[in-house]
Amino acid sequence: MKILVINGPNINMLGIREKNIYGSETYEDLLRFCKDAADELGVEVSFFQSNHEGALVDTIQEAYGKIDGIVINPAAYTHTSVAILDALKAVSIPTVEVHISDVPSREDFRQISYIRPYCIRTITGMGFEGYKEAMKELLKKGCA
Ligand code: DQA
Repeated sequence: MKILVINGPNINMLGIREKNIYGSETYEDLLRFCKDAADELGVEVSFFQSNHEGALVDTIQEAYGKIDGIVINPAAYTHTSVAILDALKAVSIPTVEVHISDVPSREDFRQISYIRPYCIRTITGMGFEGYKEAMKELLKKGCA
């Protein structure tokens, strides 16, 4: 059972960027957290992070036939990217959308998520815990 965790732009800057919103833990800490969670849940996990929309699309396409479930935090591309939505639809892999911060309580421009209608669930404001919750959701739905 294979889960791919995809993170979008600036998630590699965790621990440096807007600590009041995203906390002081780093991207490396996030990877460690997700790996531990995956081990606990008994799933295989792999990771991808990019600041480039096309690279995210390529990775989603490459997951076709290889990955059972996707956990994705498209970061700023959440609010702009039809291409990421179309890639998810193309591969038809069950997906959970995750945001570290509490997006509903933030700016108006963050309230749009192009991928939300495709995703089986959206998790916001749970910090790193949201990624574990997303993996659990995929397991619960029998996807991974
Ligand atoms: C984010 C929320 C987005 O609005 C923002 O652009 C990010 C991170 C989050 O994890 O809370 O970069 O996806």
